[in-house]
Amino acid sequence: MISTPDGEIDVNGRSGPLGGPADQQRLIGLRAQAAVVLVGAGTAKGEGYGPPSKQGLRIGVVSKSCNVDFSAPLFTSGAGFVVTSTSAPTVPVDSIRAGETEVDLLGVLQQLPAGLIHVEGGPTLNAALLNADLVDAINLTVSPHIGGRRGPSLSYAPHALRAFTLSNLETNGDFVFVRYERNK
Ligand SMILES: NC(=O)c1ccc[n+]([C@@H]2O[C@H](COP(=O)([O-])OP(=O)(O)OC[C@H]3O[C@@H](n4cnc5c(N)ncnc54)[C@H](OP(=O)(O)O)[C@@H]3O)[C@@H](O)[C@H]2O)c1
Repeated sequence: MISTPDGEIDVNGRSGPLGGPADQQRLIGLRAQAAVVLVGAGTAKGEGYGPPSKQGLRIGVVSKSCNVDFSAPLFTSGAGFVVTSTSAPTVPVDSIRAGETEVDLLGVLQQLPAGLIHVEGGPTLNAALLNADLVDAINLTVSPHIGGRRGPSLSYAPHALRAFTLSNLETNGDFVFVRYERNK
């Protein structure tokens, strides 16, 4: 995730204006290590997600409703799949399902390929993962902008306070990149 110092995560629904080439390189680097990417349906749609540049990497779009545009390049390319509950509508692409009415995120994670699962937000999905205590590490970019409105922050829903340890800190120009790992 990228955030301004005052907690804004998008400009008119897009995070791109907060970032820059160094942040993009970070994202590509994280995806390079990932076995799979997860993203919330709101982010996939709002940010216009397409297939990743890393060959073979798949992106799971988490959606309870399955009201997703399956004609989008993410899905027509074969890279996208849906993560949902067992009672959700059938979908014309691959799906991973866990939980009867709500998506059981732990049950989902257990069905994903072994390795790093890279979650790219947004705040609704982040909140659900934090609530389920399924976040091992947070990679955060602090953007040198201050937003003019109060939009969503890194995580929507309230969740228990959890302690993380700073494991990496780098700068590039005016951007700060931090990695926090969950205290065991
Ligand atoms: N700054 C950053 O790094 C960054 C990163 C990502 C996103 N964003 C911003 O975040 C905003 C979008 O926020 P958002 O909260 O709508 O994002 P989101 O979490 O990507 O999308 C919310 C939708 O995803 C599905 N979803 C999420 N968690 C779920 C769960 N546990 N179970 C079932 N479905 C789940 C639901 O889809 P259905 O309604 O289809 O059921 C829900 O309506 C955008 O403005 C975007 O730019 C910023």
